[in-house]
Order: sequence, then C-alpha cells, then structure tokens
Amino acid sequence: MIPRDFFIEDRLEKYRLTAGCNLGESGLRNYTVRELFNKLEIQFETIKCISLADSPNRGREDLRVEIANLYENISPEQVLITTGTSEALYILFNLLIEKNDIVSLLTPAFQALYEIPLMLGAKIQAVEVLDYLPFDKLFSDNVKLAILNHPHNPTGIGLGQEEIDTLKKSLPKFGGYTLFDEHYRFLDYKNDLSFSGAGLTDKCFATGSITKCFGVTGLRIGWLIGDAARLEKARSFKDYLTHTVNPISEFLALEILRKRKKLILPIKNNISENIQTLSDNVSLLSGIESFRAPDGGLVSFVKLKEGIISENYADLLLEQCDIFVLPGSNFEREGFIRIGFGETPERFKAGIERWKNLKIAKEVLL
Ligand SMILES: Cc1ncc(COP(=O)(O)O)c(C=O)c1O
Repeated sequence: MIPRDFFIEDRLEKYRLTAGCNLGESGLRNYTVRELFNKLEIQFETIKCISLADSPNRGREDLRVEIANLYENISPEQVLITTGTSEALYILFNLLIEKNDIVSLLTPAFQALYEIPLMLGAKIQAVEVLDYLPFDKLFSDNVKLAILNHPHNPTGIGLGQEEIDTLKKSLPKFGGYTLFDEHYRFLDYKNDLSFSGAGLTDKCFATGSITKCFGVTGLRIGWLIGDAARLEKARSFKDYLTHTVNPISEFLALEILRKRKKLILPIKNNISENIQTLSDNVSLLSGIESFRAPDGGLVSFVKLKEGIISENYADLLLEQCDIFVLPGSNFEREGFIRIGFGETPERFKAGIERWKNLKIAKEVLL
C-alpha cells in the first residue's frame, strides 16, 4: 500500500513563499544564512573548514551529547540523528508496526503520524482532542503503539503539571510502546523546555527537532531517542534511507543547540506578540467563532462559524487579504483553520488589519 497524498503539502508548496502574510506554516519565517550566522556570532570562514565527507551514521558525537543533555537520564548512545523528524518517525514505525497492530493517537493530527502506520497495515484508534489532550485514552490494553504529540499540532494544546504527574504514574502499567512526538519542545511558554517522555520506561521513544522552533526548516535535522539496542536497529535501517545527514546542517544544529537559550528568547517574544495580536482582534474577524491561545508550539486550530467551508474560507482569505492559512479539511476536520504564529510581528499585524476587512462571500458557506 502507498500512502495517500500529504494533504497540507499542496497549499504549502503553492503559497508559502508568495503570501504577504504566511500563517499556513507551522514554523517560523526562516532565517537567511547571513541572519543565522549573525545570531550565532560565527564567522563564515568556519564553514569553509567543514569536511564534506559523510558524517558518522548515528550523527556526530558532540551533537548527540548536546541533544542527550536536553533530557533526563538519556545517554548519547540513545540518540540517533535523522533527516528531519519525518525520517525518525518513518524508521520507528517500520521497526515497531506489523499488520493489524493497533496504533492510538490524538486527532486531528500531523498526517505522517497515522498515514505511515496505515501504510504498514496498522489499525488506527483515534482519540479526539478536546480542550485538553485526553492522553489516558491512548493507553488501552490492545494498543501496540500509543503516539502522544505535545505541544500538539494542530491545536497548540500542551500538558499541564497535574497531567504530567498522572502520565508518569500510569505509563509503567501500559504494555505497549509509546512515542512522544516533541517537535515543538523548545517552544513552551511557561518553561525553558516542555516536558519530555523520553526514558520514562524502556518502551518509550521520543522525537525532536530544531527546525521549526529556530527558523531553519531547510537544515532538516531531527532525532530519535530510545533504548540503545532499538536505536542500533534504527541506525541500521537509516543506512537504507538517507544514511547520514548533511555535515553543514549538523554543524549549524550543534551551534544552535549550544546557544539555544539566547536564540529562543526573541523568538518566544515574537510569537507571544503575535498570539496577543490575534487575541485582541479575533472578535473583529468575520467568520471566526473562537480561538484558544496555544500552550506551546507555533500553531492553533481556530474554530470557524457554523456552516463555513474551511477550504473556501482559506481561499477567500488569500484572495482578499493576502493571508495564507491551512483549511481544517487538510487535517480531515471541517469547521476549523490552522493558524501559525511564526510570521514576523510586523507582517502578522499588517495581515490581521487586512483580515478585519474580509467580506464573507456566499460560496464560502455550505
Ligand atoms: C507534530 C509534528 N511531527 C513531525 C513533524 C515532521 O517534522 P520534520 O519537518 O522535522 O520532518 C512535524 C512537522 O511539522 C510536526 O508538526
């Protein structure tokens, strides 16, 4: 079986570079190489000395050490560097899932989290996200792999302290594997890093990334965390895919992680400013029913007024206001649009001003 089309990609490819205000993205407006080098305070000369030989196939040691330090009780042997988190997910699903296995996950969801398991013959047990993440429902008896993505894409909902305590108590009783997709871990608005489930039990895996949170999606560096034996198998599987990552990306990823606290502060400030701008103006935007500010990450799933077709609304917003958003239909959920907060505050504010003049046309309604 081959996977269906990746629903969000068509629009992202078409509009991400051309829209005046890009709220379709789940990452930041990306930096140029010059901007990144200035932020990292490194000279361009350093790049010239990087060998273009293959990196070690687990990823370079100093980068794995730096990543292991982001977790409690994780050693560098438990870290595999991958080309994007997508590769980490693909490898892990192939290692764990067999035909007819039950995979539970929170929905709506980032499509790869269910589309690849479906491709491998799994049955999906969907747990609907409410105004919180009902993670306890993921851990039922018959489940082979439970996937917990937090902060959650597309809703922006995170886990509170009480929920984390409950999770820690309940997880050892669960017989299946758990994957924590922690793509937005660097963007928690109350803590330095959001909670990680890595290492909670020896059946827990986690994925992570620098790309979306630090405005460097093109570097394509992600990682997989798990027990050392399983990671060795994952490394071997990776030899048939990308084998190694680009050494220039790896070098920059290392620099970003070493300076992450300094880099992330202005990023968090900009996102908070954008969230505030939307909160202040949401009642003035035609067609919008309600909005919940994200606990973490870069996106929110905004509810549309009854009877509005998400795809037509997204088209109209682009046409009249030069604002790009993703329709809920791309997440197989009508009645919502996904908004990203990674635009610059100037473009975000200007976009919201234009949005206030949106005129809902008949064809947008059911
Ligand atoms: C929840 C989630 N998981 C995984 C990914 C894939 O990440 P990458 O771009 O690093 O492959 C994304 C990308 O947006 C995501 O939102």
